[in-house]
Amino acid sequence: METSKEDQVIPKSLTKYKEIISTLPQENGWKFAQPLCLYQGFWLTPNYLEGIMFAHENFKPQPDDIFLCSAMKTGTTWLKALAFATVTRTLNSSNPLLYKNPHDCIPFLDKDYIKNPIIQNTKPRVPLWSTHVLYSSLPKSVINSDCKIVYICRDPKDSFVSLWHFTNKLSSQYNIGKISLQEAFELYCNGCSVYGPYWDHVLSYWKASQEWPNRVLFLKYEEMVKDAGFYLKKLADFMGFSFSLEEEREGAVDKIVEFCSFENLSNLEVNKMGKHRPDEKGGFDNNMYFRKGEIGDWKNTLTLEMGARLDKIMEDKLRGSGLIFNSSLD
Ligand code: A3P
Repeated sequence: METSKEDQVIPKSLTKYKEIISTLPQENGWKFAQPLCLYQGFWLTPNYLEGIMFAHENFKPQPDDIFLCSAMKTGTTWLKALAFATVTRTLNSSNPLLYKNPHDCIPFLDKDYIKNPIIQNTKPRVPLWSTHVLYSSLPKSVINSDCKIVYICRDPKDSFVSLWHFTNKLSSQYNIGKISLQEAFELYCNGCSVYGPYWDHVLSYWKASQEWPNRVLFLKYEEMVKDAGFYLKKLADFMGFSFSLEEEREGAVDKIVEFCSFENLSNLEVNKMGKHRPDEKGGFDNNMYFRKGEIGDWKNTLTLEMGARLDKIMEDKLRGSGLIFNSSLD
């Protein structure tokens, strides 16, 4: 059997990546199946790092590709659904979002690309990619391109609580040890979380959006929750898929907002019972991506002191950047 060029590239580079990864600082505190490793200033498990290193060396975007970027637990699922529905304009019965989790509708650069490198050249293809890496850790081919980048961020208190719940659900699914709230909080406040430090993540995209506003759109989850229609139109305009007046008159914006709402998506059969990455051993239950979708839910898990500590860290880290997260301590 003949091996394709990609087949030969992957195994060779994997050995090289594994060697580099074995030299990186490690942290086991989150009790994942694999430790977190510190690479280019952010923490990540080796399997995802391999995917990113492979993308750094090989990925070439198409000129019309759009990158949906986020730290974990900041509204990625929602952004993917909104962007996918907007770009494809399909809300009929053939809409993939009806039978696939939003994460399975858009290739994930950090993981899907290494598994199937030829997807970058596949046509026709919905021109969307997603990634969790910091702006500075995107492949240079993306940074140096004119491709559009959309970033979503969220109040770190809600994002942290969401991450902690998610991590514990993962632990239950894979029968690995759970991390206590206190332990997770300490690690998070010290900058150690998946794809963290969170503040560096947010700042990297914030600075890029300030420097290249036509190329990097910076969104906040809380603002989107308050006026989803406004931000959907902004997203559509930015991506180059504006709604026409006729579409607006026919309610296309409201229909997408409604379809992608937490209530609707979380109640679809696929998201209640299905699996994300069903082809992989175990997969993730799709319902893990839908918990409450509320602003300020952190108060049900963190003490006010913990909230104030995280706010203070963010304030210190973001000082002078012009970016602020409205504290919701009251
Ligand atoms: P909570 O855990 O606070 O409920 P991500 O998609 O980046 O993994 O983020 C997950 C968070 O987004 C979870 O927050 C989840 O409930 C919320 N979420 C998922 N789908 C959403 C939607 N359609 N609208 C708003 N929030 C959503």
